[in-house]
Order: sequence, then C-alpha cells, then structure tokens
Amino acid sequence: MFGLVAVHDAYLYRKNTTPRSKYLAEHNVYPLKPSYLISSSTVSIMSGSSSPIILVLGAGPNIGQGVARAFAAKGYQVALASRRANEAHNAGNEIYIQSDFSDPNSIVNVFAKVKATLGIPSVVVYNAGAATRNPPNDPLSLSLADFNHDLTLNTVSPFVAAQQAAIGFAQLPNSASRTFIYTGNITNTTIIPPLMDLGVGKSATAHIIQSAAAAYKNRGFKFYYGDERNADGTAVYSNIDADAHGKLYVELAEGKTQGPWQQTFVKGVGYKDFPVA
Ligand SMILES: NC(=O)c1ccc[n+]([C@@H]2O[C@H](COP(=O)([O-])OP(=O)(O)OC[C@H]3O[C@@H](n4cnc5c(N)ncnc54)[C@H](OP(=O)(O)O)[C@@H]3O)[C@@H](O)[C@H]2O)c1
Repeated sequence: MFGLVAVHDAYLYRKNTTPRSKYLAEHNVYPLKPSYLISSSTVSIMSGSSSPIILVLGAGPNIGQGVARAFAAKGYQVALASRRANEAHNAGNEIYIQSDFSDPNSIVNVFAKVKATLGIPSVVVYNAGAATRNPPNDPLSLSLADFNHDLTLNTVSPFVAAQQAAIGFAQLPNSASRTFIYTGNITNTTIIPPLMDLGVGKSATAHIIQSAAAAYKNRGFKFYYGDERNADGTAVYSNIDADAHGKLYVELAEGKTQGPWQQTFVKGVGYKDFPVA
C-alpha cells in the first residue's frame, strides 16, 4: 500500500517526497506550451463572443489540460488559473490567470478577472489539491501549519469557488450549463494512512458538493465530485487519465439535470457506482 501511495499525487506533497521540479522534469510535463489547447480543427472563437466559458482552477499539464482540451473542442472559451499560469500566453479564446489558492481570496479575484475578460463561466472545475504525508501510524503528528495549508487548498478555496460559481450561475439563463465539478479521489470513502489531511479535505468538500447538489438542483445548478477509479473500484493513484476526466466532465456539463453527486468513474466506461470500502 505504501509503495503505491508514494506515487499518488506525488508532486503535490510539500515534504518528504520527490521535489516538484524533479517530478516535472522526469515527466517532461512543464512548462505548458502556449495555446496548447487549440488544434487546427478547433473552432476559433473570438473573445467577447457568446460561446460558453469554462474556468479551470488548478490547471496543470495533466487533468487540467485534458479537461480544457475537451471543452475547447466543444467550442468553450477557456480560463485557466494556477500559480504558474502565464498571462503572456493568452489567446482569443483562452486566458491564463496567475493565482495561488492558498489564499482563498485569490479565488474571488480569479472570478472577477474571468468575468471582466470573457464573461461569467457556466462550468467551473476545481482541480488543485495538496497533501502532506504523515507517518502512517501517527497521523496526529502532522503540523497544524501543514494541516491548515492543505485544508485551505482542498476545502476552503473550493468552498469559495463553489460560492462564486453559484453567484455567477444565478445570472446565467436556464439554458446555460451551470455545472461545478471538484476533482476528488477515493479518500472521501476510505483512508490512505499516510495521507490523512488529503482525506480530511476531500471528505469535507465531498460534503459541500453533496449539500449543494441537493440544495440547488431545482434551480438547475449541478455540483459533482469526480473520482476516477480502476475497474475494480480501487484507487488509480498516479494512473490518472486526463482525457477520461475531460470526457466525463463534458458529459456532466451537458447533462440537463443533476446526476449522482459522487461521480466515481472508470476510463472507457464512464460513471460507475462502487460500494463504500
Ligand atoms: N482519482 C484519483 O485517485 C486521483 C489521483 C491523482 C490525483 N487526483 C486529483 O487530481 C487533481 C490533480 O490532478 P492533476 O495533477 O492531474 O492535475 P493538473 O491539472 O496536471 O495539475 C493541477 C495543477 O494545480 C495547480 N495548483 C496546485 N496548487 C495550487 C495552488 N496553491 N494555487 C493554484 N494552483 C495550484 C498546479 O499548477 P501550478 O504549479 O502552476 O500552481 C498543478 O499543476 C487533484 O485534485 C488530485 O487530488 C485524483
């Protein structure tokens, strides 16, 4: 178990793990190429058009890119926010917003910037995450600073993002998608011993999503917790599939009504309900 865990979310760990830069270099995934979302077959959309808008909060080279690619192919304008987003790469139908979600107020600023630049997003994806490993047999040795930092990334900022998304959804017509998706993992239903604070954050946000899905469904707003699994229901760890996320997230955005808030899914299959371990 521990060996598998060591590669799960590896570059998100703040200590006791492979340094981020080394991970990125080894996986040849950074920096992002400008305009990487747009292929020649993608419909060209000028900024200020009536095309729908997706905001991806925590848009890196893997899931973030896969989701952005899938929505761009559907004609969406795309706003991508992360700490290393480079606004110099902005193009007509994609904008990059530099932001650090360890400050929850940064989320409000991102929404304001998207609204001023493109308009109100009808789809919002919160994809950033953070974890600090703890000794598997001593989860309570985690420092309060690390616990607070990761809880902010995994829950407090996603709460603000869902709040901002809902404020925007209320201003959009009923025909708009009005979908909020949080990228989760298995830790809201089971423990991974060295990742206690990741599980705390994902569990808390799962509750926010479940609550919002029930509360807003009559207004046509949809809230989802995405969790890719292996076909047998076990965690995918680092075998996460960016395109499978993009495909599912587009389907959720195109759905007319709220489906199961907890979207456990399998690559090549789609949504699959798994019993809680
Ligand atoms: N289902 C599963 O079992 C499973 C497995 C693995 C991962 N996951 C989940 O998938 C998500 C990440 O997926 P991914 O790594 O493939 O996505 P990604 O889009 O490749 O990367 C996510 C991006 O989030 C950004 N980010 C991190 N901390 C941030 C901060 N403080 N402020 C702003 N942006 C921040 C980082 O970009 P910058 O460095 O530019 O900020 C990072 O590149 C996480 O939520 C993770 O828990 C789930």
